[in-house]
Amino acid sequence: MFKTEVYTKRREELHKKLKKGIGLFISNSEAPMNYPDNTYHYRQDSDFLYFFGIDLPGFTGLMDFDSGKDRIFANDYEMDDIIWMGPQPKVKELALKSGITDTAPLAKLEEVVNDAISKKRKIHFLPPYRGETKMALGRLLKENPCQMISIASVDLIKAVISMRSIKEKVEIDEIEKAVEVAYEMHVTAMKMCKQGVKEQDIFGVIEGIALAKGGGPAFPIILSINGQTLHNHSHDNILSKGKMMVTDAGAETNLHYASDITRTTPVGGKFNEKQQNIYEIVLKSNTEAIKATKPGMSNRDLHFMACKILASGLKDLGLMKGDVDEAVEIGAHTLFIPHGLGHMMGLDVHDMEALGENFVGYNDEVKRSDQFGTAYLRFALPYKPGHVFTVEPGCYFIPELIDKWKGEGKFKDFINYSKLDAYMSIGGIRIEDNVLITDKGHKLLGKPIPKTVKEVESVCS
Ligand code: GLY
Ligand code: MN
Ligand code: MN
Repeated sequence: MFKTEVYTKRREELHKKLKKGIGLFISNSEAPMNYPDNTYHYRQDSDFLYFFGIDLPGFTGLMDFDSGKDRIFANDYEMDDIIWMGPQPKVKELALKSGITDTAPLAKLEEVVNDAISKKRKIHFLPPYRGETKMALGRLLKENPCQMISIASVDLIKAVISMRSIKEKVEIDEIEKAVEVAYEMHVTAMKMCKQGVKEQDIFGVIEGIALAKGGGPAFPIILSINGQTLHNHSHDNILSKGKMMVTDAGAETNLHYASDITRTTPVGGKFNEKQQNIYEIVLKSNTEAIKATKPGMSNRDLHFMACKILASGLKDLGLMKGDVDEAVEIGAHTLFIPHGLGHMMGLDVHDMEALGENFVGYNDEVKRSDQFGTAYLRFALPYKPGHVFTVEPGCYFIPELIDKWKGEGKFKDFINYSKLDAYMSIGGIRIEDNVLITDKGHKLLGKPIPKTVKEVESVCS
């Protein structure tokens, strides 16, 4: 946990923002894998971590916004648990670390919530994303568990997003630690990227680094020579000459802050001419976008800037044609980059998306585009100091999408379909870094991870 005052300060700020009603924060429960006692790796809810810091199941935090008081509901472990789990801290000790002196057994929670319901007090809670939490809330509030997302408190969602979006110094330090672990994961993957090696071997080794140095991977590792599949979670290929390996991998620290880095490495460690041509374009898009990152600039503007660099490079190679601004305006570039430039990062690798992507990245003035590809942009608002973002342009040759568009003659004034065949073996290239928005500009987080052609080739050799 962070120091106690980190949590007390955060709750004080939330009290100032809400003022009325009560707020319920339910910790994540254990999730069984194949029978109740055989559970998945435990991951606490990020909002519970943010406001209370306690990294255990079976806890509920209650904030009374009228009285300004906070309370923890949980049961102490019993002897039957201790025999299997060893000595465990008492609820009182854990609550104190979070700056809360008032604790009660879980059985008392229903009584307190019933009292609030009978007095028609507003009960604020965040949208639950796990079935167990939906059930717990439904039972407490006497509402249909399936409706818990739609009746979650918009006031609480907005207040929490406004706080979690701006990272504190202790959080930035954690994210930097997570990027340091990612450095080791990626450099190791590059060194192992040799002909004949199984993807699974590299995947296992770098997942092991994330576990050895922190809290494990921040998300399921993407590692594939079929990088044209954006989130490719199969690792059963054998690396072969002429292919490139996309590794999109980050770690969580022990306090659960994430990194999210992507590197693309030619099998055997040397780029061929076509690979290098496309790689340099994606690299330029990545580095120029990072350079332009500063407060006031919107992630949407930066996204289009990065897309134009990509489209312009592809035009130079003869894969695209026509006016670049026009091509990007109508969405022709989305054949090659059907995803957004980046997303916020913090306690979640896609930070706060459980609270609703549109609450995080859009507002009443800035609406989500419904254009193919651009619709996946997760955040369109201006940057503020304290935001942490990924910058992750890519270029993909997706056979199914190319065939479909070619068949339809889609954007044929902007795409040279006949030239694409020669590039299909590239698969995909993505280069992703993690950036903090500062008062005047930005800071690349962590030790820079090799990414120029020279740097990557030198690591591989
Ligand atoms: N790691 C998934 C992403 O880059 O968004
Ligand atoms: Mn990523
Ligand atoms: Mn990402």
